[in-house]
Amino acid sequence: MPTTLDKTRQTLADLGVTRPEQVYQLFSELRSVFEAEVFSAAETQDGGKLLNIDDKWISGSRPILTEAWENWVDQSPTALQAPAKSVLSHLNRRFKLTLEVVRPLERLNALNPAAIAELFERVKEIFDRDIVLDSTLISLGVTRVSWVGRKNGLITWITERWLKPAKPELKPLVGQALNELKAHVEGALEARRMAIEAASDQGALAREREDLSLPGVMRPLGSRHPLRQTFEDIERIFLSLGYTVVAGPEIETPYYNFEALNIPEHHPARDNMDTFYLAAPPGAGQRLLRTHTSPMQIRTMEKQAPPVRIIVPGKVYRRDNPDATHNFMFHQIEGLAVDSDITFCDFKGTVEYFVREFLGPKVKTRLRPSYFPFTEPSVEVDATCVFCGGKGCGVCKQSGWIELFGAGMVDPAVYGFVNYDAKRLSGFAFGLGVDRLTQLKYNTNDIQLYFQNDVRFLRQFA
Ligand code: PHE
Repeated sequence: MPTTLDKTRQTLADLGVTRPEQVYQLFSELRSVFEAEVFSAAETQDGGKLLNIDDKWISGSRPILTEAWENWVDQSPTALQAPAKSVLSHLNRRFKLTLEVVRPLERLNALNPAAIAELFERVKEIFDRDIVLDSTLISLGVTRVSWVGRKNGLITWITERWLKPAKPELKPLVGQALNELKAHVEGALEARRMAIEAASDQGALAREREDLSLPGVMRPLGSRHPLRQTFEDIERIFLSLGYTVVAGPEIETPYYNFEALNIPEHHPARDNMDTFYLAAPPGAGQRLLRTHTSPMQIRTMEKQAPPVRIIVPGKVYRRDNPDATHNFMFHQIEGLAVDSDITFCDFKGTVEYFVREFLGPKVKTRLRPSYFPFTEPSVEVDATCVFCGGKGCGVCKQSGWIELFGAGMVDPAVYGFVNYDAKRLSGFAFGLGVDRLTQLKYNTNDIQLYFQNDVRFLRQFA
């Protein structure tokens, strides 16, 4: 590792110095080395040593500064010559001052007010030059220690070696000059600190400044999926009727999906062809992907005493091959109302109200007998075709009617599974196919479009 002194024996190119700030850094290093030598000699009051230091660095036959000048100035590219010159000539004055602050005023021939004023004026100038060479807060910190450091700061030495031993008639003068110097040094250090900070802030600001003339980043706005819109439309209608929205698990037990809904073991609806059974670890109960949202009828009635008015939006799964009207996953909204005085009239009124709210006031409904194990009587709810108004068209296959969803009055057998009093209670349930209702609403002909997430399709519903 070359010492700082070795550096004076090399050219700036050898030292890898290419920028003026690096030259100023050399100033700071040499200043520290020199001060350390001077102060340790001064501590011991060894005048001979101080003279040697003076010779070695400044005034001997081949002093370090001269050597440095040859290496740093004479052999440097022009761009670095000027900073190197200014650093070395300043070092010359700075070193001399350092040697002076450790000597009493008599030795400096400063024994009258004019000489003292001149001396302090020079100290001030040298200090002003010192801080100009600092371009970072770190090097400014070094300069601060060099001047106002408590142990070896120049101010401390001036106090010890100039002020304290001063003749009584000069003391007030020296004291005042020293106070002024201190104030100047402190003020200038602070000003320099702020200037360096501001410069680095401005540098950072300039680097980070936003270019307001650049075009913005276009982020495509999303929109609600048409199925989601249907969910929300339907939920809004039933919420206005006093229904509550609940959600349930997509992975179910055969009990909730079938048995408690009055679909016994041998029933065709439980056929493996219709249901996704999950591979369960040995010993664990069987699990399946729910084939409808109806299990939540059971789960809700198990948990809560009547009256019940709920709707259950969610995904359901069946082993259907995807085509224009089928998919292995689709969406339902279950509805259930149970109370002590619910009649078929309430059921019919609710269904008609919903259909009119959803498809429009002109649409008529009709109930067609149907079959579900958990409702009795069961119906299919049909509506007059929204496309031809009931006259008959391609969509309704000329019938004028479109099948909407299955529903019915809750089969009393179901109440037996949830400890509801079948003699006192009655209610109705329905299962809306959300995908189908969405298809009707937007007159699309392929259910797969809703699952492909092609933005060109989805954008039309934004
Ligand atoms: N769960 C039935 C299905 O998925 C629909 C339905 C629900 C029918 C509620 C009647 C009452 O086909």
